[in-house]
Amino acid sequence: MKDNRLTVNLAGLKLANPTILASGILGYSAETLESIVAGGAGAVVTKSVGLKPRVGYANPTVVQVDCGLINAMGLPNPGIGEFVKEIRQAKKVLNVPLIVSVYGFSEEEYAAVSKKAADAGADALELNVSCPHVKETGSEIGQKPEILSKVVKTVKDAVDKPVFVKLSPNVTSIADIAEAAAKTGADALTAINTVKAMAIDPETTMPILGNKFGGLSGSAIKPIAVRCVYDIYERVKVPIIGCGGIADWRDAVEFFLAGASAVQIGTAIATKGSNVFRTVTRGLNAYLKRKGFKNVGEIVGLSHRY
Ligand SMILES: Cc1cc2nc3c(=O)[nH]c(=O)nc-3n(C[C@H](O)[C@H](O)[C@H](O)COP(=O)(O)O)c2cc1C
Repeated sequence: MKDNRLTVNLAGLKLANPTILASGILGYSAETLESIVAGGAGAVVTKSVGLKPRVGYANPTVVQVDCGLINAMGLPNPGIGEFVKEIRQAKKVLNVPLIVSVYGFSEEEYAAVSKKAADAGADALELNVSCPHVKETGSEIGQKPEILSKVVKTVKDAVDKPVFVKLSPNVTSIADIAEAAAKTGADALTAINTVKAMAIDPETTMPILGNKFGGLSGSAIKPIAVRCVYDIYERVKVPIIGCGGIADWRDAVEFFLAGASAVQIGTAIATKGSNVFRTVTRGLNAYLKRKGFKNVGEIVGLSHRY
């Protein structure tokens, strides 16, 4: 009999295992996404794409710190007009759900990009309302519940694919923002995007990143992300996708116990390669078997009993 311990139905998407490539860590190409699937990912999210092409910020755009990475890429992307070709190609070669990450400078832009991505074959959309370093998009939208609600509603009216909303930890109450997104129709919530941060070089005395500020990712943010997932789970009923510092199966289990139904992995790919997905799923499977659980869904939110 086939083993179904790791299968999940995430807002209608059927995943063979609950690990997903996080947005932005790798390029846009269908080949890169294919290599991640070969590494064992159950689904992939593309880098965020907007209406028009963007060059992004001047280098350096990424700096390694003791406990992770700080990046301020500035959302470089070819624009949805060009990117639809890559979506169509990816749909031909990938045998896992393809989630397209979308950003915009207004609700109409979010909706226009989402519609083009959905028409090209995206299985779901993930709205990036949490980029911490580009003005008038990202967390500037995700910090304001009224504006976020309008964005979610306009996108939901424009597409008939599941809409995920990726939340920022750079807010006073992530549960308030999650509730606003869920009330206006978000099918799932991704928590979290990067934490606003900076690094300064003592020798030159200069901020290191071209943009001065960026977003911290990797193991440093895992406890923050686990707390965010826990908070959101207490407040809303829609599925949560945990993200932030996951590098091994124990990290993933922690997120499921806090309330995540699936997890995304980003920075760990830089240190462990794309096989990190396989290592995490194998460890997770062994854990579930050892504890007598028949499906990963049985451990979602378990830590809330205490
Ligand atoms: C270099 C880099 C680029 C990123 N680009 C995006 C992006 O385009 N859109 C987005 O929603 N998140 C982006 N992120 C955030 C990640 O998707 C993820 O939320 C964050 O890195 C935390 O997960 P991790 O610790 O597993 O990397 C980026 C992260 C990094 C390190």
